[in-house]
Order: sequence, then structure tokens, then C-alpha cells
Amino acid sequence: MKVGLGIRRISSSLTWTANSRNVPVDRSELRWMLEKLSINVASTYFDKSEAEQETELNKLVNSLNMRQKHRLESWIHARLASHRPLQYILGTQPFAGLDLFVRKPTLIPRWETEEWTLRCVKVIEKNEVSRSSPINILDLCSGSGCIGLAIAHHIPHTNVLGVDNSVHAIKLASVNARRANLHSRVKFMQLDFLRISDTDAAAQITTRFTHVFDNCSSIFPPFDYVVSNPPYISFQEYGTLDPSVREWEDRAALVGPGEDGAGFYPVIAQIARILLASKKDTEGRVFLEIGGKEQVELVTNALSDSGFSTTPADIWVDLAKNIRVVVGR
Ligand SMILES: C[S@@+](CC[C@H](N)C(=O)[O-])C[C@H]1O[C@@H](n2cnc3c(N)ncnc32)[C@H](O)[C@@H]1O
Repeated sequence: MKVGLGIRRISSSLTWTANSRNVPVDRSELRWMLEKLSINVASTYFDKSEAEQETELNKLVNSLNMRQKHRLESWIHARLASHRPLQYILGTQPFAGLDLFVRKPTLIPRWETEEWTLRCVKVIEKNEVSRSSPINILDLCSGSGCIGLAIAHHIPHTNVLGVDNSVHAIKLASVNARRANLHSRVKFMQLDFLRISDTDAAAQITTRFTHVFDNCSSIFPPFDYVVSNPPYISFQEYGTLDPSVREWEDRAALVGPGEDGAGFYPVIAQIARILLASKKDTEGRVFLEIGGKEQVELVTNALSDSGFSTTPADIWVDLAKNIRVVVGR
């Protein structure tokens, strides 16, 4: 496709956006691109009406120098031509105070995950208010490293081990740890923890994790907390996802085992039972992102089979009012 989308065309793409949800470059994405070009969007922007926001963005677009205009054009072109997620085009994604690198095919951290991660930080801080010794956290299915890195960023005396079976994810997460200057406290290990059979799971998990700790001597079990955002979408639901997700992000990061996509939860609950330190009276120990209300029962059952309890207060709802997290204590 020919590159050369004019700035006037950008303005009209803004106008389309107001009326159509199908146009991928909308106001928030344009604002984000401008910020990436080091153009400051006024803090009063969010107080303005949609029309005023558009006028302001158009003014900023018109003030760009030639180099900036070319970059903006190429980003918009990439976005419109190939469904490529903006985060993969710009290469970064803000997350809980960090600016993380993102790279195909590793999952782009979502706002829902950011929201509950920050809530989880508050719970851990509250639970550990009088503690000065290190807090050890296990992040299963760590992807870009977003959850573990955010916790380590906000709570100084935490050590985090992230585990993922994707070599791409492990490499990216390790780069992110260094970028955030958290690499001395946050480590990532490649491990497929689904390859653990039902029989003698405890022994197998311990053996596999012993291998991890041989290579990662600064972070030892027992852990104080387990956090996880595992793949939880069913194969059927996967077919309905937006092309910008299906064509760019790793299917293995999205689709969970089993007809309902919930096959990771019993395994994670077992691992948590084996690797968590025994400690009572805390608000939460295991934090699991889930796909929605239809998975609540499955996940609470998986947790309870491994000895965790869940109260109504342990079912967290996100800003879009969807059930997003089940906490086990
Ligand atoms: C939904 S993504 C979550 C990534 C990141 N924690 C986040 O919230 O953005 C799930 C992650 O699980 C990893 N994964 C899939 N199957 C796995 C397995 N069998 N063992 C370990 N990790 C696995 C994928 O590579 C992917 O990075």
C-alpha cells in the first residue's frame, strides 16, 4: 500500500472516529502517538468536550515538524493498513507507572490487568505493613513481566520470579526488568508448568521448580504471594476476537486448555498450595485474573480443592463492571 497519508487525511480520520467505532485511529490513539513524539497534550485536555479535544489534537498535528509528520504518517498507515495494535507500532505500553517494551507476539498488557495489579499492590502493602524482610512473589504466566514488575516497582522489598513457557516473553520481560532497573529483584524463567501430570503433581512441581531455583538463586520458595493472568479464553471465543488481537498476539497467550478455557486454574492453585509459605490471617495470597463471571465457580472450586478459601469480597470487579479477579486466601 502506498505510504503518504496526508495530515489533512489525519484530521478527517479524527472526524470519522466520532461516528464510527470501526476506524482504528481514534482520538486516544492519536493523542498517544503525539505524546510519543514528545508533544505535550495539555493537562486540561480531558476536561474538554470531544469537539474541543479534536480541535486541540488537529492544532498539535499541524504544529509538527516534517520529521514528526512523517513518523506520525507511517504509524497511522501501519495502524490502518494491517490491524497492527498501536502498542506494537510504538513499541511501548505504559503500565502502573512503568513504560514497558511490547513486541509481537507477546501479549500487550491490558488496562484490566493494570487496574487489579494496583489493587493487589495495596492488599500486599496492607498485609505486610510491619514487615521488613523481603516479600517473595511468584508471577505465573508472566508474559511481558507487567504484573510482577509493577508490584516490584511499587513495593521496594519484594523479590519476584516470573515464569512463562514462551522464549519471546522471557526475553522481553528480562529486557523490561532491566529497563525498569528492577533486574536485581525480578527474574524470569522459561518453564511450561502445564506439563505436570495429575498423579504425583506435588513431587513434579517441586522437581521442576527446583530446576528453576538452581538457576535463580536469589529468589527461593516459599513464596508469600502468587499472581497470575493465565490464558483463559475458550477456543470458541477466540474466533470472535478482533483481528488486531488474533493476527498479532500469540494465541497461546490467550486460549486456555479445556472447553471453557479455564484449564490453567487448577494447576496454578496446586502450585500455589505447594510453593506458598503457610501464613494465615492475610487478606489474599493468590490473585488470579479470570475471563468473567462464567469462570468464577470453576476458579473458586479449583482454589478450594487446593485448600484456599474465597469470600464474596475476594471476587473483584473491574472498571467496566466485569468480574476480573478471584483472590484465594
Ligand atoms: C494472558 S498472557 C499474560 C501475560 C502477562 N502476565 C499479562 O498480564 O499481560 C498468558 C501468558 O501465559 C503464557 N503461557 C501459556 N501457556 C503456558 C504454559 N503452559 N506454561 C507457562 N506459561 C504459559 C503465555 O506465553 C503468555 O505469556
